[in-house]
Amino acid sequence: MSSAGREVLLGVGGGIAAYKACDLVRRMQDHGFLVTVVPTPASLNFVGKATWEALSGRPVLTQVWDDVPSVAHIRLAEVSDYIIIAPATADLIARLAQGRADDLLTNVVLASGAAKLVVPAMHPEMWNDPATQTNVEILRQRGFLVLDPEVGRLTGNEIGAGRFPETARILESLHEISGTHADLLGKRILVTAGGTREPIDPVRFIGNRSSGKQGFAIAQAAIARGAIVHVIAANCPDLDLEGAQITRVETTAQLGDVLRNDFSDCDVLIMCAAVADARPSSVPENKIKKDKLAAIELVPNPDLLLEMSALKSSGQVIIGFAAETENLLENAKEKLTRKNLDILYVNDVSRGAVFGSDHTKGSILLRSGEVIQISEASKDTLANVLLDQLL
Ligand code: C5P
Repeated sequence: MSSAGREVLLGVGGGIAAYKACDLVRRMQDHGFLVTVVPTPASLNFVGKATWEALSGRPVLTQVWDDVPSVAHIRLAEVSDYIIIAPATADLIARLAQGRADDLLTNVVLASGAAKLVVPAMHPEMWNDPATQTNVEILRQRGFLVLDPEVGRLTGNEIGAGRFPETARILESLHEISGTHADLLGKRILVTAGGTREPIDPVRFIGNRSSGKQGFAIAQAAIARGAIVHVIAANCPDLDLEGAQITRVETTAQLGDVLRNDFSDCDVLIMCAAVADARPSSVPENKIKKDKLAAIELVPNPDLLLEMSALKSSGQVIIGFAAETENLLENAKEKLTRKNLDILYVNDVSRGAVFGSDHTKGSILLRSGEVIQISEASKDTLANVLLDQLL
């Protein structure tokens, strides 16, 4: 199951690690979760309501006395698919273990049957105190997933068990309790999107009809599955993406520079961009007059995909794209072999299909010789099918 659109309620306890939960909100959103934050009144000493409202884009309540007509504790309990309490202080853990309902968060926890994840953070003496350990045990027996805090430096000079874990570890646990997939967690994916443009003069260029929609759909799907994504976007002005690094380029030469710099660090290269096969041999400083436009001399561009696949190390995976109007499978098989790819998706662009559309049709070719037909699918669907195959 995908995490997209699943509702998470983030309860924030009154510990200094509350500031780290700000990043957690962002990263959960990158994974497609929708987040509502319910801070305890004490936690507002560390991070204020406005910060949570701005990060989540939703109103933030802390007490059952806020917005009484909406019966917030019951409404939030009903809509939340998962509850994460991060950071959970010794006091909050004690109140949860006792089944108290003395602020909005503890009311929601009591009223909700959702899967619950507790992320404790406190000083080692408080964590190791038998009272806290007993309370943690009670919560675990009731089915809460309670993480052990990490060992390391704490506020002040102390070192010990009590640190708030890295965001990636919390996300992993969230995916565990939610049954959603983060099967690309921490994988570095480099995606090229759009189409390159080769200047003829300061005004004109040679370009192609690639919109960048497929590359961005792949990037979005990879982010939702936990990957660290870098998109090299060639002329995709209107597309927006949160949670990925985006480098904008115009020409094949610029795309090549970024690829040569970043390829060795990625686990997966998805070469979705339509790269111009040739460029004008020279670009004058001034606009070419109409009567001199009868012929433009072209020189071939390097095949960047071929170049990267020659540099590929054994742990890396490369997916190529092709656009064909005839002899689809024959041309695609030849490309898969010649460019030494793991997977190739060939778009059937006959009769103007696919370019600029939200849908695609074509075939996925695997190195094993297997072919998966995509008769008509959204670009989001194809993105996830390709990511399944690369795994
Ligand atoms: O040979 P063809 O252009 O059909 O191959 C398409 C694949 O090769 C795409 O993945 C495209 O990004 C890549 N390509 C490239 N450099 C070129 C031409 C295509 O990397 N000069």
